[in-house]
Amino acid sequence: MTTTTKPEALITSDASLAGSLPSNFIFAASTAAYQIEGAWNEDGKGPSVWDDFQEYGKDACRSYEHWREDIKLLKQYGVNAYRFSISWPRVKPEGGADDPVNAKGLEYYSNLVDALVAEGIEPVVTLFHWDLPSALEKRYGGLDDPEKIVVDFVAYAKLMFDTLGDRVKYWITINEPFIYTLLQSAVLKKVEHAADNGKNFDTLWALVTKSILLCHAHTVDLYRREYKVKQNGIIGITLNMDWIVPMDESEAAAKAAQQGIDHQLGMYAEPIYHGRFPQSCLDRFGDKLTFTDAEWAIIKGSNDFFGLNHYSTSWATGETFEFATADVFGRSFGLIATTREKDGQSIGHRGHNGQPCDVPWGFRLLLRYLSDNYTKEAGQSIFVTENGFCVAGEAEMTISQAVNDVERQAFFTGYIRELAQAVKDEGIDVGAYMAWSLLDNLEWDQGFVPRYGLTHVDKTTEAYTRYPKDSAFMLKRLFDFLRKN
Ligand code: NOJ
Repeated sequence: MTTTTKPEALITSDASLAGSLPSNFIFAASTAAYQIEGAWNEDGKGPSVWDDFQEYGKDACRSYEHWREDIKLLKQYGVNAYRFSISWPRVKPEGGADDPVNAKGLEYYSNLVDALVAEGIEPVVTLFHWDLPSALEKRYGGLDDPEKIVVDFVAYAKLMFDTLGDRVKYWITINEPFIYTLLQSAVLKKVEHAADNGKNFDTLWALVTKSILLCHAHTVDLYRREYKVKQNGIIGITLNMDWIVPMDESEAAAKAAQQGIDHQLGMYAEPIYHGRFPQSCLDRFGDKLTFTDAEWAIIKGSNDFFGLNHYSTSWATGETFEFATADVFGRSFGLIATTREKDGQSIGHRGHNGQPCDVPWGFRLLLRYLSDNYTKEAGQSIFVTENGFCVAGEAEMTISQAVNDVERQAFFTGYIRELAQAVKDEGIDVGAYMAWSLLDNLEWDQGFVPRYGLTHVDKTTEAYTRYPKDSAFMLKRLFDFLRKN
């Protein structure tokens, strides 16, 4: 008879890890409005740029209807927090500072927050997870106009602080600026990088970067001045970083790796923590990326915690570029190069989207980099606001196969072990781990595949029946083991 070891044994068989995380460590599941809510034009909601682009969001996971069930799932999974986002056009259909508010939209989020709090689940609210009101895009090009978007964004943020801030203690201004910029330019607006050797693309990239940093910083400034003390909360931005290591000892590889880190992470983290842009970004964008002294003063120091989304690690060669979304990433980077192979061997475990996903040690290197460069000196925590895995071929599986998600469990275990070791052995301050995602949701322009959910959603039934996957329950066991009693 063969005995099979469960993936979680990687952690639970290591007694030295027991109690290595503080008892108040946040263990959460994450979602985003456009990816789960559906009801794209119900109860007064206005369209977002994604509704203009495609129809997938009409239903998504129908969470606008089934949110109570989703809360039951969260309860079942034993999380102590839930990260979700507000759909800006649901609460302000046309988005602008002077545009009308949609009371039904506010009521939806207010009810959601009430129900979470009643269950002892802390709401973690993202203000902008990419679903820009379509009206603002039409009015002035959305985030292509830094001056105009800031006014509208801050007014929207204020509305949400006023509506939910008495119960919400964790705010995230913006999710993954880097990916949003690429999606907005290359996917939504179809700006061709190759057409003019990147000029137009880079101009937009710089404008969107300015918009994002200013929206973030002015929102944080408002929160700190008018809400933080009385509402007793904290606020930060979520940046994505899939770690990049040089493929070999060559200078070209080292340069490419650092350039990749600068463009994905440093472009936002350096301004926010150190009041400057990385040199490689300045070299590329030149005077497209400038701020006044007054703007720098508001940007520098505008984070209470470091929100991190992390999925994978890539290798930089300095020569070629290969990535799942090569169209977007490849064109925007030039020098930055990654490969999935090293010495002829495929590295790591490939998920559905082709990334070399399962590279847990890369996660630890990244946590160390963030702590050394940003959070330690600032006395802050890193909140992992997303980490997750899409199993290759899951969409073709039966429900019972899909819920038996051993590969996802192995992925989670490897990454969470590195997190616990980073805390225990290196004293890195990590305050939260939020798994992506509560549900098999809508993966933007890719549709419903790949699937990252802790829960399978059966879209063939009227009720969009939810089926918990095994990984959801495993996560609870892991965090029960890792947290101090
Ligand atoms: C990060 C994004 O924030 C989220 O919306 C997306 O679904 C996941 N990555 C998976 O690709």
